[in-house]
Amino acid sequence: MALIDLPLLMKDHVRGKRSPVTCALKCGNQCALGPCNHSDNPTFRDIVSSAISRRTLLGGTTAAIAIGVAGTQGALAAPAGPAPAAPAPALAPGGTPLDFTAIESVAADVDEFTVPEGFAWHPVIRWGDPLFSDAPEFDWERQSVAAQQRQFGYNNDFVEIQEIPGSDGLRAVMFVNHEYTNENIMFPPGTSAEDMIEIGMAAHGLSVVELERESREAPYRYVVDAELNRRFTVEDDFEMDGPAAGSELLATVEDPAGRFVKGTLNNCAGGLTPWGTILSGEENFHQYFVTPGSERDQRYGMGSRPTQRGWETRHPRFDTRTEGYENEANRFGWIVEVDPWDPTSTPKKHSALGRFKHEGANVRLTEDGRVVAYSGDDEVFDYLYKFVSRETYVEGDRAHNMTLLSEGDLYVAAFTATSAQEIDGSGDLPSDGAFDGGGTWLPLVEDGESKVEGMSVEEVLVFTRLAADAVGATKMDRPEDVEPSPTTGLVYVALTKNSDRGGAGEAPADEMNPRSKNRDGHVIEMDELGDPTGTSFGWRILLLCGDPEQIDTTYFAGFPADQVSPISCPDNLAFDSVGNLWISTDGQPGSIGRNDGLFRVTLEGEARGRVEQFLAVPRDAETCGPVIHDQDRTAFVAVQHPGENGDYGAHTSFFPDFDGTGPKPAVVQVLPVATEPEHPFTDMGPGHEHYESVLWAHGHGIVRGWKEPDGTSTFRPLQPVQRDAMAAFLYRLAGSPEVDLPRSEPFRDVRKGQEHYTEIIWAYQMGITTGWADRTFRPTAPITRDAMAAFVYRYAGSPEAPQPTQRPFGDVPLSSAYAKEIAWLQREGITKGWWDGTYRPLSPMHRDATAAFLERLHAEQGITFRSLGG
Ligand code: FEO
Ligand code: CA
Ligand code: CA
Repeated sequence: MALIDLPLLMKDHVRGKRSPVTCALKCGNQCALGPCNHSDNPTFRDIVSSAISRRTLLGGTTAAIAIGVAGTQGALAAPAGPAPAAPAPALAPGGTPLDFTAIESVAADVDEFTVPEGFAWHPVIRWGDPLFSDAPEFDWERQSVAAQQRQFGYNNDFVEIQEIPGSDGLRAVMFVNHEYTNENIMFPPGTSAEDMIEIGMAAHGLSVVELERESREAPYRYVVDAELNRRFTVEDDFEMDGPAAGSELLATVEDPAGRFVKGTLNNCAGGLTPWGTILSGEENFHQYFVTPGSERDQRYGMGSRPTQRGWETRHPRFDTRTEGYENEANRFGWIVEVDPWDPTSTPKKHSALGRFKHEGANVRLTEDGRVVAYSGDDEVFDYLYKFVSRETYVEGDRAHNMTLLSEGDLYVAAFTATSAQEIDGSGDLPSDGAFDGGGTWLPLVEDGESKVEGMSVEEVLVFTRLAADAVGATKMDRPEDVEPSPTTGLVYVALTKNSDRGGAGEAPADEMNPRSKNRDGHVIEMDELGDPTGTSFGWRILLLCGDPEQIDTTYFAGFPADQVSPISCPDNLAFDSVGNLWISTDGQPGSIGRNDGLFRVTLEGEARGRVEQFLAVPRDAETCGPVIHDQDRTAFVAVQHPGENGDYGAHTSFFPDFDGTGPKPAVVQVLPVATEPEHPFTDMGPGHEHYESVLWAHGHGIVRGWKEPDGTSTFRPLQPVQRDAMAAFLYRLAGSPEVDLPRSEPFRDVRKGQEHYTEIIWAYQMGITTGWADRTFRPTAPITRDAMAAFVYRYAGSPEAPQPTQRPFGDVPLSSAYAKEIAWLQREGITKGWWDGTYRPLSPMHRDATAAFLERLHAEQGITFRSLGG
């Protein structure tokens, strides 16, 4: 049953067979209304520039443009040098350690996350996971605004993961966008419209969350309450920055100065700056607003009809016909910069980068220290932009670098073609053997002045689409990610698809967008011709996507089409450390009938153009936010809108937990399957007393070892077991059950956040430990052998046991506190005492002997956890 009455306008005429739910919720049925761009600027210019001919492109100019680009180190890359010799094709192109055998593409009705042989996948964090301990565990039936504001949001798109300095690679800070919500699969029947609106709003936004892992080979997990954890929603302040900040065009009754915007919306892709901040694109913001439907409104896809989400019914600012809120929609559609390293920082919206449906932005450094940011406007027939900063980067001066996107020149791309006469929309390669040409970055704002007749700088920046129409930018097939290669400096543009290309009254195919009704999308490679701050570029098509078994107009840079993985609808781009391009897709189920995925494309050498599929996401999902840490042999993706075509109770996906409830968007890590060494510890081996028990307990995750500085692992068998560790052992032995944390603490010396807190609380709640009379637990004190007997006896549910009539061991008198418990352990065969007939009740328990106790208890005697005499 559909719970919300989605106006599935696209139900019977989805362009490119996209899911109608995606159309409704992701883009606000934008296509149903037709393209927004009705400008009559030229669709192509058949100007062959001698400076940017195909010869120039193919003549090894990559060497001349090896200019520094954004990298995690934040330093300028080495100056241009000769191009590396093309390596022979290898299994792992470029010598990357992330070697894999491509998977087969996966049919669109398969609800599985598919990885190559020898790899495993792990959800790092999912919708509803609490980022803070004051947030409840997610409960489908008890969702609330307060909970969602402190939990991981919905529909994760862009992801960036940066290692925390000084953590030996064991901790990282992750940034994630929450683009939009899928109410039809989020809320159980009976949820009120008001709750769906308010909780849906709270599920939008951004998250910053710390990750940790036990080793570079282990999967990451997120850390509750970590110092950098942060959740941004539609209620948080974002500061307007740059030339349009303070403009009347941004003023509202709530913010007459036009300087602080409440919230960020529909954040799609993004990029990392050389100074460690995140750029995030506000994309399909139009769908949240009702407007008068002016020409300007329409150019951004906004009209006067009610929105699907209905936010305007509860928050008048989302209806710009409301007095005082005429400019509210102008305050969205920006590139947002967030500093994940400062939890008190206020994010900025950079007006200097223009306002449109930003997919994201990616920054590079140039030789003279200026920064260049590229951004695509993701709409059919919209444009490709670049920003060049006025000021230059200063190594180590973070505060200064964070102002670089505040002021500079803004350009839009006009492409030229070499074979215009031959382009007929079929996608057939022209006789010169390439879709290629040159182009010009047309200025919109330069040296602080508007370059658009009749528009002020503020107007150019707020109504950037109209400014770009006026100067004659080239209409493209939905520019998504635009990203410079860190190794060659070439710029890659994902053009996801455009089924309107060549349609009646629409722009025809051209050499840059050479297929009519472009169902599968393509990827363009741009060459900034030695100067990314300049205004000329060359370009050629790298890939015409599709399944070569379904159509014969695919193109893979000349690589044999029968040797590639089928790929369609390229969306997000990333690079590995050796310069291979990685592409995630959005829309394959609708185009080629396969689940979306992540693909590697070799760019150098004889295998240039080879596409290899690395993973496939589950049913109805889109693959987003790829992060490739190939030196760690790992990659991350955000699985967006899994099961979006289902309904609550009639789900089409159960990813990622497959527990029969419903799907949750999640960030997933893929890494090689861990191969456990036969003997994991260097300080214990065959022949040591209790070694088999230690292996058993370790193999079942009940006890853990220590990672030593030299990378080896030790068990420390003769170290005493602390009381908190004993609680943890029993907790894990019981299967790590859910724990309802108390409002007030039972022990004076056990506090939230300390090691084994949850396990101690569990042991207390289950009656396994009572602590001491002074309300202490003494967590770090060694547990004595008699206390250990009591813990284990109570763990087993305090079974009926007679009071012993003779000493169980020579040193356990009948009057001792735990004589009954020790006698029970002896009868059950869990303890045998020492060789001399003693039990040594007040001696500490050693770690190896504890493993033996637990194995006998659980594996040999089959005694399982029974709570409170139950
Ligand atoms: Fe949110 Fe352009 O994809
Ligand atoms: Ca050509
Ligand atoms: Ca996207």
